[in-house]
Amino acid sequence: MKDRILDEQVDKVANMILDADRIVVFTGAGVSTESGISDFRSPGGLWDRYDPNDFLYQRFLSSPESREKYWEMNSELYNTLVDAKPNRAHYAVVELEKMEKLDCVITQNIDNLHQEAGLSDDKVIELHGTNMWVNCLDCHKRYSRKEIQERLEKGIKVPYCDECGGILKPATISFGQAMPYEETREAEMRSRSSDLFMVIGSSLVVQPAAMMPMYAKEGGGKLVIINMESTSYDRNADVVLRGKAGDIMGRIVDRVKCKG
Ligand code: APR
Ligand code: ZN
Repeated sequence: MKDRILDEQVDKVANMILDADRIVVFTGAGVSTESGISDFRSPGGLWDRYDPNDFLYQRFLSSPESREKYWEMNSELYNTLVDAKPNRAHYAVVELEKMEKLDCVITQNIDNLHQEAGLSDDKVIELHGTNMWVNCLDCHKRYSRKEIQERLEKGIKVPYCDECGGILKPATISFGQAMPYEETREAEMRSRSSDLFMVIGSSLVVQPAAMMPMYAKEGGGKLVIINMESTSYDRNADVVLRGKAGDIMGRIVDRVKCKG
């Protein structure tokens, strides 16, 4: 019974994709868990293992000791990120670009897996930045995260800028840090002008990212949510598919290809 309902929903979303021209895909950590990267709020997720307060921007700036703790945690997470490979959900989104249906992907993720799956860089808006780079907060010199990882693994506890001695931080947006202005503005605009907005693997609890589905509805677009758990936006969605992103997105794209 459950699978029959899911199959009907897959069929309905496939038809919506065929009718759409400007699809925006919005992803959260749930699109990458099948690649081996923990999400934040599922049982056993990152916020079960680390204290989110240790990742606050103000705390990071406040002392070398808090930066040492931050880099220790970030270094542990880095190795998981760097070994991760895109999964079926990431590749299904690339298929939407190949069908020339994808306007863009707005992602909260910092893992670069959409790009590694083959999505064009200019199709990805990284609302929460990326873990691939590290910036100097003073002179804005940029380093690869790989280079900084090598320093950490050689025993450096807190890396500083070679150029000016300034504080180095991964190019991710921490709680309390200003959102990237251009990316946020662009994401709102693309959400409002989308005719189909697909949320994949997000609890939709962190603002302002979680406003995007509402912007899409305000703009007259259809809203599809693919998630393991319910979200507070489910009641606004045209279709809610409960299950694993890789399986569901794989089935949807296969159905579009059959119908196309
Ligand atoms: N398939 C579908 N859904 C999944 C899967 C999966 N394989 N794995 C997890 N999920 C769902 C979970 O049920 C959860 O509702 O994905 C959602 C992930 O939610 P969060 O862990 O809250 O992640 P996200 O929504 O991306 O968090 C937003 O919060 O901590 C900050 O900056 C961080 O970008 C992050 C932001
Ligand atoms: Zn510097």
